[in-house]
Amino acid sequence: MASYDVIVIGSGPGGYVSAIRCAQLGFKTACVEGQNALGGTCLNVGCIPSKALLHASHQLHEAQHNFAKMGLIADNPVVDWTKMQGYKSEVIEGNTQGIEFLFKKNKIDWLKGWATIPSVGKVLIGDETHTAKHIIIASGSEPSTLPGIEIDEKIVVTSTGALALDKIPKKMIVIGAGVIGLELGSVYARLGAEVEIIEFLDEITPGMDVEIQKNFQRILKKQGLKFTMGAAVQSVSVNDKIAKVNYLKRKKDTEHEVEADVVLVATGRKPFTDGLGLEALGIAITAGGQIETDNHYSTNISGIYAIGDAITGPMLAHKAEDEGMAVAEVLAGQAGHVNYGVIPGVIYTHPEVASVGLTEEQLKETNHNYKVGKFSFMGNGRAKANFASEGFVKIIADVTTDRILGAHIIGPMAGDLIHEICVAMEFGAASEDLARTCHAHPTYSEAVREAALACGNGAIHS
Ligand code: NAI
Repeated sequence: MASYDVIVIGSGPGGYVSAIRCAQLGFKTACVEGQNALGGTCLNVGCIPSKALLHASHQLHEAQHNFAKMGLIADNPVVDWTKMQGYKSEVIEGNTQGIEFLFKKNKIDWLKGWATIPSVGKVLIGDETHTAKHIIIASGSEPSTLPGIEIDEKIVVTSTGALALDKIPKKMIVIGAGVIGLELGSVYARLGAEVEIIEFLDEITPGMDVEIQKNFQRILKKQGLKFTMGAAVQSVSVNDKIAKVNYLKRKKDTEHEVEADVVLVATGRKPFTDGLGLEALGIAITAGGQIETDNHYSTNISGIYAIGDAITGPMLAHKAEDEGMAVAEVLAGQAGHVNYGVIPGVIYTHPEVASVGLTEEQLKETNHNYKVGKFSFMGNGRAKANFASEGFVKIIADVTTDRILGAHIIGPMAGDLIHEICVAMEFGAASEDLARTCHAHPTYSEAVREAALACGNGAIHS
């Protein structure tokens, strides 16, 4: 038994970042993790491994489609799936060990095992009870599947199983055209699988700027992904290693059946709070199953805090990280603030999709007078040279004040480009501020400046 100032439960991006910031602020800190490695879903079975496979499969795509155009002869590149999985594992290991190093550096104890909170100020792991002045729950989320669908992580898989398939499937059905479905669907399509995405709604990536949605779907179709839209999956059954997916076309009310060797269920995630003992403690939970917190991440029970996927808001690693730092600062008597209006969202397909702030649709709903500046990567020299001229940057600004209200990008390195606009928004910048900022030539970021120019007197290269 040991006593701490802070015990953080969970070592994902929310938990480990929070533990580090707590230690930096002078708290004696421990972090509980029941898995064999630190890093949570993101590092072990989420963001990081998926990016490794996205990178590898994109290289294959480049070799197949663009190498010859540049005079690079690499006929018939083949995929060594075992080696690709090995590369993915090395990437994971490098990252998780990095956190172990950071824990040692910051003198944070890793308490191995699964935590329960028997009472305020106590954390039980196995048969050991530790005490802490403050407990931060950063227990993350888990896939939420559909009723009646049994996940075996071999044939009917969540993102976890999809990252570690025995072999590349001939046909893969993805249920849900959200972030996970499109990223992993892209991976397997590039690796040669026939990929069909079945989506309940009539558009992909719900909540995203509609113009981006439409262009994104068109580009993905061109890449070979097949979409069945407006279709509610009813059931999945497996017989003789073949999965059958039954769905209902919502408008026509007709029933359909399709077969595949792998079915990826990517219909969202839900908070993972099993075993923490929240009910016995009387911790308030929202209707959506998230832990209820106030503006300072405190639950209704004093001394117990919660952050990340386990509470409300977008389930994003970087949102959890920000909350992890903020709660540590709150405990240290500092401000601890997260600006929820400026949290970027990125989809790491090729091209990437990134957005921040408000969409046109949201602005229309509130009758907000806005203007739009748009610039296509077709007019960007660097993008043209790199066979990456598909897509555009769209900046939305207030019609009167010119203040940037949102930005939506589909195109090369969109996930990096968006941050220039995030910083601008944090500073309350006008589109003119971006437009007057000198951008190096030739870079993709010139497209951001051109979109800002298009909010004013006009872009130069369109
Ligand atoms: P999602 O919420 O993004 O998308 C789920 C999709 O499934 C929706 O389009 C929904 O309409 C559809 N769906 C639901 N029920 C259905 C049914 N019966 N039949 C057909 N379609 C159905 O969820 P996703 O992709 O599973 O991601 C989970 C979470 O993980 C999200 O919060 C996401 O933001 C996060 N994530 C973020 C990543 C990133 O930032 N790049 C990468 C991966 C995940």
